[in-house]
Amino acid sequence: MLGVYDSGLGGLTVLAAMRAAGINADIVYFADQAHNPYGDRTDAEIAGFLRDNLAVLAEQRVDAVITACNTTCAVAERLGWPATPFPILDLIATAGRSFVATPYRRIAVVATAATVRSGAYGRAIRATAPAAEVYEIAAPQLVPIVEQGLAESETARQAVIDAVAGLAPGVDAIVYGCSHYPLLDRWFAAALGGGVARIDPAVAQAAASAKLIAGLGLARGASTTAYYTNGDPHAFEAAIRRWTGDTTGRVAALVAP
Ligand code: DGL
Repeated sequence: MLGVYDSGLGGLTVLAAMRAAGINADIVYFADQAHNPYGDRTDAEIAGFLRDNLAVLAEQRVDAVITACNTTCAVAERLGWPATPFPILDLIATAGRSFVATPYRRIAVVATAATVRSGAYGRAIRATAPAAEVYEIAAPQLVPIVEQGLAESETARQAVIDAVAGLAPGVDAIVYGCSHYPLLDRWFAAALGGGVARIDPAVAQAAASAKLIAGLGLARGASTTAYYTNGDPHAFEAAIRRWTGDTTGRVAALVAP
């Protein structure tokens, strides 16, 4: 059993990428929607959410955790990861490693305020691609729009235009440094035009998780997914159907820790 967590809907992009990569392990997904958005919180608060999320997944007896929340990885990079009896696949570390042999030289990471404050993405990418210029910009308005079910709205389109207005000139790639942002990809594509590559770290995380679970002997499963939220389970279920196409996964409500 694999565990995947996020502050809300964004991690569904990682889950969907894992299934698209052929991962058929059983998965339990936890959305800490009671505390969303994480990106505007202090590092200490985010570290507390990370600890609680891992405890929720530990109760489900997961064998490994695939992180789908960059903000918690950014804070853990500096404050350290809680000790767990299972391995944790760090989304930012995976994203950084994916820049080996990258053709891109001027890379913008769009992320939450807490992730940008940490500088973790810049360090992770530069460690792999030292020649790259990395610009980190915060787009705190985007996560609430997605969580409110407005990802396909005019409000979302305009918010993405505003977010990319601050990009450095000559950027040749942007990285979705928050797992909610791929749900706004159509608006990023329209706002950026064809000359800027859009990189979703979920793809690299899915590939890395396939390797991890093969190594752990967890590769075979029945592809079941159990979803837990401490927010509104009905709205969450609708979002799962919309963003993953999964029509069978069970959704259960959890009391906020
Ligand atoms: N989707 C998460 C991330 O990748 C957290 C977004 C938030 O809650 O602010 O950072």
